[in-house]
Amino acid sequence: MKKVIFIIAALCYLPIYLLAQSVNIVPMVNSLEKNRGSFEAKEVFITPSTPTLAFEHDFLLNKINLNNYGVKLTSDKSRSATVKLKIDNRLKGSERYILDINKKSITITGSDRAGVFYGVQSLLQIMESGDIATCTIDDAPRYHWRGFMVDESRHFFGFDKIKETLDMMARYKLNKFHWHLTDESAWRIEIKSYPKLSTVGAVGSWSDPHLKAQAYSQEEIREIVAYAAQRHIEIIPEIDMPGHATAANRAYPYLSGGGVPAHPDFTFNPGKEEVYDFVKSVLTEVAELFPSKYIHIGGDEVAFGIKAWQSDPHVQALMQREGMTDVRQAERYFIARTTAIINNLNKELIGWDELLDIDADPKNTTIMWWRHDRIASLEKSLKRDYKTVLSPRRPMYFDFIQHKDDKWGRTWGGYCPLEDVYAFPDNDIAGWEVSNSDMENILGVQANLWSERIQNIDRYDYMTYPRFAALSESGWTNKDTKSFSSFEQRMQKEYALYDSMDIYYFDHRNPSAHPEPKGCEKPNIIIPLDFKD
Ligand code: ACM
Repeated sequence: MKKVIFIIAALCYLPIYLLAQSVNIVPMVNSLEKNRGSFEAKEVFITPSTPTLAFEHDFLLNKINLNNYGVKLTSDKSRSATVKLKIDNRLKGSERYILDINKKSITITGSDRAGVFYGVQSLLQIMESGDIATCTIDDAPRYHWRGFMVDESRHFFGFDKIKETLDMMARYKLNKFHWHLTDESAWRIEIKSYPKLSTVGAVGSWSDPHLKAQAYSQEEIREIVAYAAQRHIEIIPEIDMPGHATAANRAYPYLSGGGVPAHPDFTFNPGKEEVYDFVKSVLTEVAELFPSKYIHIGGDEVAFGIKAWQSDPHVQALMQREGMTDVRQAERYFIARTTAIINNLNKELIGWDELLDIDADPKNTTIMWWRHDRIASLEKSLKRDYKTVLSPRRPMYFDFIQHKDDKWGRTWGGYCPLEDVYAFPDNDIAGWEVSNSDMENILGVQANLWSERIQNIDRYDYMTYPRFAALSESGWTNKDTKSFSSFEQRMQKEYALYDSMDIYYFDHRNPSAHPEPKGCEKPNIIIPLDFKD
């Protein structure tokens, strides 16, 4: 009897990941009830959806048409099983869905459109595995910020690669694409009021200063933003300032606030009115292009170039006029004026954690915590009620190597293996502890693909996959549901997918199967201010 009670108790507590092994979805769903048997129909009729769900409806239809899942679409409702998509406002929580698979019908009910879309993604992943097990999945994300950043300043990857990345984000239920478009190497977005940004400013890359100008036209930006929005991905543009401004200064040298020999013309000049005219014009165009409520202004590593401000006559005049005693106050002044510009555009400012050092206003500022060695910054961010995205170098920088034998990515007292990405933020990489009340200020998690060491598509893929899939589970799946061994099993079909897509991934199962691609052995090259196309 005791034994029976024990077995029943054990079954009741059987971790969801054991059940989930036959319902093969990445990221792992948060609640699953498996029923007996499988969906039996070989033909399905997709019930017409409301116009609101037209995209989700067509997405499912096209995928079933395109791929042979052993199920065919039919328009004969009477002889087939049905698939129905709907929104039910009574479902609590955003981005939530219930996927109900019976022997003869499938229903996806979302709390909103995004929920329905994620239900479709889960259904498609189940269909991919061949056996469509009957089950009920009730799923919603752990975090509402599940982000991925790509740096296209250092190396430019282009329209098709970004679209593919957005497709994979949709598959993995990632919903924030942070687009790092400007930096030292090049400026990558057309600004009509400052046309030299995307000609002179877009020349070169981190590894080749002579590369012809590469930048997105506004038309292309609009197309990518719309493509992402259909897939429930918000694009947050980053226009880095007042540091990392080298490429803009190359196009318009009068904006420069100087730099240091290793980073010449690194800053915008906070003492010049023309700089604020520039910031206002650029951000006005950016605000029109991107519907996101955020504009990311970087704000990182200004200290690299700030020494030049000590002897710059314009900065010195500003400091005298405003009674400032320290150049950090000029940095703060720049951020405050930029915040006002952004707020006047009905947008909110988001930036890197250096904004904490200059006490940016918590009411108007969202922080991305990236300096993993500065726990105090994270604590300050949460305690002072800044909304905060967790994006620490370790383990969330995908330009860091992921295997001990890899040579060409970054390291920092360690690296960023798949296991650590997966476990984040529940592992103790950074040694931080967060109380429940502070947790409320955490918007979510994000990984960043800085591209100094990513000179070609093979390196892009190698550094991104499979860590991308681990990121999805870090952002979506509740702590108690996560299991790395279950993840490894479910990844078999992801690896097969990468193979079919010609994605050159790091093979975590057998690292020597896919050797580290070359392409970033050249030393850091700083493009001089007087460089001409
Ligand atoms: C950063 O990595 N400089 C945010």
